[in-house]
Amino acid sequence: MPLVELKDMLQQARAHGYAVGAYDAVDSHFVAAILAGAEAARAPVIVSFAESHFSHYDFPALVACAESLARRASVPVALFLDHGASMESAVAAIRHGCNGVMVDASHLDFEANVAATREVVAMAHAVGVPVEGELGYVPGVEGEDAERHPGEMRLTSPEEAAAYVAATSVDFLAVSVGTVHGRLRGEPRLDLERLAAIGAAIEQPLVIHGGTGLSDEQFRALIERGVAKINYYTALADLAAAALAKAKSGYAAALDAARQAIAAEVVRTSQVFGAAGRAEEVLAACRPWRNVEHVILFNWSAEAAGRAAEFEREGEAILAEVPGVREAVVGQAIHADARYQRAWLIRLASPAAEAAYMQDARHLEYANRVFRPHAADRIKGDYARE
Ligand code: 13P
Repeated sequence: MPLVELKDMLQQARAHGYAVGAYDAVDSHFVAAILAGAEAARAPVIVSFAESHFSHYDFPALVACAESLARRASVPVALFLDHGASMESAVAAIRHGCNGVMVDASHLDFEANVAATREVVAMAHAVGVPVEGELGYVPGVEGEDAERHPGEMRLTSPEEAAAYVAATSVDFLAVSVGTVHGRLRGEPRLDLERLAAIGAAIEQPLVIHGGTGLSDEQFRALIERGVAKINYYTALADLAAAALAKAKSGYAAALDAARQAIAAEVVRTSQVFGAAGRAEEVLAACRPWRNVEHVILFNWSAEAAGRAAEFEREGEAILAEVPGVREAVVGQAIHADARYQRAWLIRLASPAAEAAYMQDARHLEYANRVFRPHAADRIKGDYARE
């Protein structure tokens, strides 16, 4: 089970005054180490995938790996698209297995940010996936020296934050209150009064980007004011790189050392964030994240039989693009005497995604034009694994 609904996870964190670590992963060792650290701390955890890192790894393959590991974890886990660049990125991330998304429009002005974020929220909420929006601008680049990417910090205004949440319906709000992405010299100066005003103005869990370089006291001060998700990457990457550089006894042992370094930092930060020891209560309080299998057993009509392959390839191409669809494929019965010889296997992200799929214009156009007229002999059902 332990993939859980991210909205439940973060609302629980905000209500109980702690934060969940959202750690960016850049390979399967990172994912395994983040989960091992969360298991050791008995902490809920978010494994994130930052679109700026996609040139370094195969995103669908890495999320598939994370999904497989998360399903075997004993602590609550969510898989998250961090700093997505577009609507297409969000749709793809949900298809590949993420159950929370951020499309970062924080570089745009207020109106344009609202407009872009609203579109993402409409798509994602229809398929049961919560959305993080960002207002204000957090400069820097994950994994690099902050000084090399000075950017221009724009702090979040409490009034705009309330208006932004009301206008977009985002589930979580990333704020700019002085943190910077990447490696810092010294501690950043935080505007805690501003954060307190934002926290008082909106009830949604707040998110801090640029966790690396903050002191334990700063983390605690942020959490006291409504922060429930802390994004953290550069420190993990630096600890892993240092462990690799120090390792002398071969590749596999070097990777073990890197994983241990990452896991230890996940344990340490989970303790500072107050998430350590919470796994059981979070599991009890959160709905499980449930994928749905929409299954149609069918036979093509005698007239359609010659075009079946063409119809099916067309359907696979159309249906795979529908938001919330994870996979759409046709299977052939392996027993010649099976009552139904063909099956559509449509994997959907969630029960909400099934409902949205049944209303989707692309799906209905294909179903009414091609499938239903030529496959009257059929049965269907929707199933979620327990
Ligand atoms: P750091 O790399 O500074 O920890 O920031 C991570 C982050 O904010 C990812 O979104």
